[in-house]
Amino acid sequence: MMINRQIFLCAGLGAMLMASAQNTTTRSALFSEGDDMAKAKPEYNESGMRMIDITRPWSDQKVNGVDYGWYRIHLTIPSSLVKGKNFADYIQFNLGPIDDADEVYLNGKLIGKTGGMPGDAGGYRSAWSVNREYAVKANDKSINWDGDNVLAVRCYNGNDPGGMFGRNGVTVTVPELIDGVSIGFGKGKNGKETVTVSNRYDKSIKGSLTIEEVDNETGKVIGQSSHKVSSSAKKPGVVANLTPGEGSFLRVKFTDDLTGKDVVSRSHPKFILTPAAPAAPRFNTVEVYGVRPGSPIHYRFGVSGERPMTFSSSDLPEGVTLDPANGALGGSVAKRGDYTFTVKASNGKGTAEQRFTLKVGDNIALTPPMGWNSWNCWGLSVTQDRVVSSAQALIDKGLADYGYAYINIDDGWEAPERNADGTIAVNEKFPSMKELGDWLHSEGLKFGIYSSPGDLTCGCYLGSLDHELQDAETYNSWGVDYLKYDWCGYGKKHALEPDRRATSSYIRPYMLMGEYLRRQPRDIFYSLCQYGMADVWKWGAMVDANSWRTTGDITDTWASLYDIGFNRQAGLAPYAAPGHWNDPDMLIVGKVGWSDNLRDSRLTPDEQYTHIALWSLLASDMLIGCDLAQLDDFTINVLCNNEVNAVNQDLLGKQADRVVKDGDIQIWSRPLSDGTHAIGVFNVGGNDLNVNLADYYKALGIVKLQSVRDLWRQKDLSVSNTDYFIPSHGVRFIKVRY
Ligand code: GAL
Repeated sequence: MMINRQIFLCAGLGAMLMASAQNTTTRSALFSEGDDMAKAKPEYNESGMRMIDITRPWSDQKVNGVDYGWYRIHLTIPSSLVKGKNFADYIQFNLGPIDDADEVYLNGKLIGKTGGMPGDAGGYRSAWSVNREYAVKANDKSINWDGDNVLAVRCYNGNDPGGMFGRNGVTVTVPELIDGVSIGFGKGKNGKETVTVSNRYDKSIKGSLTIEEVDNETGKVIGQSSHKVSSSAKKPGVVANLTPGEGSFLRVKFTDDLTGKDVVSRSHPKFILTPAAPAAPRFNTVEVYGVRPGSPIHYRFGVSGERPMTFSSSDLPEGVTLDPANGALGGSVAKRGDYTFTVKASNGKGTAEQRFTLKVGDNIALTPPMGWNSWNCWGLSVTQDRVVSSAQALIDKGLADYGYAYINIDDGWEAPERNADGTIAVNEKFPSMKELGDWLHSEGLKFGIYSSPGDLTCGCYLGSLDHELQDAETYNSWGVDYLKYDWCGYGKKHALEPDRRATSSYIRPYMLMGEYLRRQPRDIFYSLCQYGMADVWKWGAMVDANSWRTTGDITDTWASLYDIGFNRQAGLAPYAAPGHWNDPDMLIVGKVGWSDNLRDSRLTPDEQYTHIALWSLLASDMLIGCDLAQLDDFTINVLCNNEVNAVNQDLLGKQADRVVKDGDIQIWSRPLSDGTHAIGVFNVGGNDLNVNLADYYKALGIVKLQSVRDLWRQKDLSVSNTDYFIPSHGVRFIKVRY
């Protein structure tokens, strides 16, 4: 919680504005492209710089494709700001978010840095959504009180938009002592929980800490304790040896003795809701699969249970094979029709059967694709070894047993030049696409690749422009089953087209590749990536696309998840159907990083349950974006809940709509093929809430509730008590019959 007093701001262009105690906002600065450390110095000659708006990214201001840029902001910092204050040891510069990484200098002295620039030890790391708040001691010699100060901001932009874009521009504030207080949760050496009250400032703050233990499912307070704590930068306050129960979290409040102001926080334990799968075989994938006549079949039955397991069938259709060791279906069927047969899976603990139908016809992707894509973890540093390691982990860690089957290489595999005959070539990181494809197929998995209708991809690798047919043929020869076709470099060509404002100009490049893919003697899932331009959901199916991205890129923050998942998917349900899906982008659970440097997803556990529940309701592509070799138990639990996955894969193929938007409560509902409904009751606000489903029966069309099942916990709930505790950014995901 920040309780800054916003005292003063001013900036200008060479000419300084005078200090004022009003709430003014600095919205402009001097700017120039390029990287030159001399720009950090106060005496830098600014004659080559020009004015720019710092509340909007630079790409909105005709600065495109620029990596480094510098801003210089002139400020007067009046000494009256700090006089007569109870605590006035620091001043703080609030710059808002910056795309992607920055360093900030006050009169030549580095005062803050966020993200990573390419030359940094850890390399490039985007931190575009993080608010930059840099505090400087009030007695710091670099501050020129009552005179001109230069705040020089060095920015590195990995991908447009780029630069400063805080809605409030730059503000200078004098923080209160409690603004430096934050609460952290951890474990002591003895494995017991600790709560740490940290203080950014080196003046001690005293107060009381109230700790509540709250049951995660019911929201009931089941324990409480109070502690006296003092905290300074040198010596944080610690309360140790707490022992909350398995299914509970800690809710904590620190109250400053002097001002009575408080800071509240809560712990986010990685609580596992998905019950363990039985040791005996259990089929987790739907009983229908679509393939075109004559196309090679690559399909793996998703069956959990102890290994080794054997697969068999006594009535396989002619031309179809079944690998007894891994449950991979192969072969092909030339004649259209529905072919139904029984598959048996057995291990030391038992046997399970599935009556399965191979639908040989025009439609593929009868359910949304499930699998993995390299982008959200490795970005452009993807290699064949990394792809193989994730594919192997998909099998070894049991994700294939839940239907995850696509292994998709995103951008970064292409060589700088095509071969002499014009065919696309791979770079040194990918020794053999054909071998990779063959291996994936031998495991019953599918192979995906990435390109652009432009000359270049987003990562500036070669695209397919003027080589579309040739590329489709190459993909076929490598055994590719999925193409993500990303607009990016096509923008340049599009900008010159006379009909560029017409939808037809957006359709054209996708229509072309769609036709060439269909000419190939195999099924290639066609995934459009053009961020939703020209209402792609209205024409995607027409170009034979199997899914289309509806938004820009997702990242692992609540802001991004909320905007993409909740704001932008409402109203798109009518456009999804078996074979053709809306795609709100890849999953952001597990270890992600878009580079060589991976980190745990910044989503809280509740946000991750929300993410997967929402993507299931939205019948979205389920492409995992993390390094599968480093999967932890929590991530496996959110990805491999057969009842949750079954909503995503439901054969009716009806995407959820938002039925209720009531303050922070949103309810999304979709009908399922068994006559029930999947309902997500979401709390998108910052406070935990209690929600009674009965209050929304009318909106949901419920007259009499017959059954309720909690899908994450896989247990039946009472039909008469529908009062649910829903933590901040969390969900109650249920399946109801009415
Ligand atoms: C973006 C796309 C990302 C990723 C990236 C590769 O345009 O939305 O998902 O594919 O390009 O450069």
